[in-house]
Amino acid sequence: MIKKFADKVAVVTGATSGIGAACARKFVEEGAKVALVGRNQDRGNKLEQDLKALGGYAKFYGCDVADPEKVKDLAESIEQDFGQVDILFNNAGVMLPSKEIERMPIEDWQDTFNININGMFYVTRSLKPLLLESHGCIINNASIAGMQHYAAGRSYAYSASKAAVIQFSHQMAKNYGEEHIRVNCICPGIIDTRILGDRDRKIYAERIPMGYVGQPEDVAKVVAFLASEDAAYLTGVVLPIDGGASL
Ligand SMILES: NC(=O)c1ccc[n+]([C@@H]2O[C@H](COP(=O)([O-])OP(=O)(O)OC[C@H]3O[C@@H](n4cnc5c(N)ncnc54)[C@H](OP(=O)(O)O)[C@@H]3O)[C@@H](O)[C@H]2O)c1
Repeated sequence: MIKKFADKVAVVTGATSGIGAACARKFVEEGAKVALVGRNQDRGNKLEQDLKALGGYAKFYGCDVADPEKVKDLAESIEQDFGQVDILFNNAGVMLPSKEIERMPIEDWQDTFNININGMFYVTRSLKPLLLESHGCIINNASIAGMQHYAAGRSYAYSASKAAVIQFSHQMAKNYGEEHIRVNCICPGIIDTRILGDRDRKIYAERIPMGYVGQPEDVAKVVAFLASEDAAYLTGVVLPIDGGASL
């Protein structure tokens, strides 16, 4: 059987953990070659080995997406190694501890924006020429925290950075339609990954209409759909994947 992403190359930022790792695995299972991007060398190398053991091809690149010079080098290396990029999953992100704004370290605010939205801009900008050539697609990972009607806790920086991801996605979708690059944005709800730290999953589950916290694979299936030919006429979509949590 021909796999969905045979002959495709996917770049996944924040691939060393959680949602990014699950998506990278899904892409490999469906036949794509995958460039794995993240900072943690041990987890990145381990995932590369695991995906190769599945019979797929993956290569880990240690890179901080918040560093524009490193991202430029990253894009050059990916072009040299793979020769093409068909799918970009802009997923790298952090959620630093929530604090009232007068107690929030300025560095936390800056780091949040530098990684969650500036990093997405650097990566997209550096890989756009390859996506133009392939008529590829971009999937940006925002969050229900960035959606207009959703306000929870004190995640000022995180929510604002994710709202920026949504608008960045809208703008690109509108402007790149004619260039045959599709751009969609996902808004996961509460997904059981490292980013939640030791927060009590049970308390979250009680607030989710479907009654449980999502798994990274729940998101990966939707990302794979958005990246596939089945979504060929979809662009500009902002899609909650949240078991109803944002309702
Ligand atoms: N889990 C949720 O409930 C949830 C809900 C909504 C949205 N999201 C979003 O989903 C995305 C993935 O998060 P996750 O839940 O899978 O959490 P995670 O397990 O903590 O994964 C975060 C990933 O981002 C990478 N990353 C962070 N800063 C980076 C940087 N400066 N440069 C390169 N990579 C960086 C991390 O890799 P390194 O540590 O190796 O750098 C890691 O691979 C994030 O954008 C997050 O905001 C998550």
